[in-house]
Amino acid sequence: MNFARTGNWLSAVWQDRHAMVAYDGKTSGVLPNNMYNARIPRPRLPEFTCLVIPPDRAVPGLVEDVREGLLQPPRSLPPKYFYDAKGSWLFEQICRTPEYYLTRNEDALLAEHGRSIIAEARPDQILEFGSGNSHKTRRLFDACEQTATRCSYAPFDVCASMLEAASETLQSDYRWLEITPMQGDYHAGLGRLPPASGRRLAVFLGSTIGNFTPGDALGFLREIRSRLKPGDYLLLGVDRIKDKCVIDAAYNDGRGITAAFNLNLLRVLNRELAADFNLDCYRHRAEFNETRERVEMHLVCSRDQRVQLRRMRETIAFRKGDEILTELSYKYTWDKAEKLLEDAGFAVARHCQPTNGYFSLLLGRCN
Ligand SMILES: C[S@@+](CC[C@H](N)C(=O)[O-])C[C@H]1O[C@@H](n2cnc3c(N)ncnc32)[C@H](O)[C@@H]1O
Repeated sequence: MNFARTGNWLSAVWQDRHAMVAYDGKTSGVLPNNMYNARIPRPRLPEFTCLVIPPDRAVPGLVEDVREGLLQPPRSLPPKYFYDAKGSWLFEQICRTPEYYLTRNEDALLAEHGRSIIAEARPDQILEFGSGNSHKTRRLFDACEQTATRCSYAPFDVCASMLEAASETLQSDYRWLEITPMQGDYHAGLGRLPPASGRRLAVFLGSTIGNFTPGDALGFLREIRSRLKPGDYLLLGVDRIKDKCVIDAAYNDGRGITAAFNLNLLRVLNRELAADFNLDCYRHRAEFNETRERVEMHLVCSRDQRVQLRRMRETIAFRKGDEILTELSYKYTWDKAEKLLEDAGFAVARHCQPTNGYFSLLLGRCN
């Protein structure tokens, strides 16, 4: 059986883990491998419930985004809809694939430079945007322990189940850490984030900034800057332009996990909009566009299909070959990454890269 095409084995693993999560007393979420495999009851830790951050401006919801982006060609959807509980879990699996160099390189940079970053920023609070499973952020908490720095942690993400599971795991490993998981959409503005006293280190990892167009990236970083004060810092992970083969492989892993992640978007639409996308009629396509310096990820319809969105009382007629643009991932040069940070109002305090130049970790200071 071609697992990469069907993704059946992934569904089986997802179901199995999901069942385990239920056994552990939660409704949804993701447990780390060691905890899952061990099947040893652990002492109960405080349960986390996310602080919901309401929008400070009007942002389209799924129905509006579908109406705007999906009903007529050219079709597209914002990437935030990937991240339901299953999509977040699939993203974790992507990060573990041998092809996905981004996570490995960024993690190595954090391990190497985390201590000097913490020594310089001396944060009272680490505020992380798009925190996911917070796995790499552990390098910063380790550095806090090594430098006797005590701070709080405020992860901000769109996926509540991931935030809650990540917070519980972190709490068991870093008992001193005061964690406030915050659920919301960072496109809806940062004006309602709870105020913090003391120095802040804002963190935006995983090359998530690449999902913004360069103009929107600048706007978002400027907004972050406007919420910080002199003496605060921003730590930013940026993926770099490199050999097209390396980038293409990262977004087309051999086990088909990225394909399953992409297709999961249709499952989200089926569930949320009572739609009837037949997932077998769509295939994953992702390629680095060297001219535009970005990966373009699509779902391609492989045969004519009519799809009903019952909750919206709409029908879409797809033709064979029609595409839905599901994600852009911009890549930067060393200089463009620094310019982005500077144009947003930060002074580049540190800029680290691995010897292969695959990834940039930038520390920006608010002057
Ligand atoms: C590429 S993943 C990176 C995750 C993690 N920071 C890492 O480096 O592995 C993007 C993360 O951003 C979150 N995210 C995406 N769009 C978002 C939005 N509009 N508001 C808040 N979080 C969002 C996703 O749920 C996901 O956890």
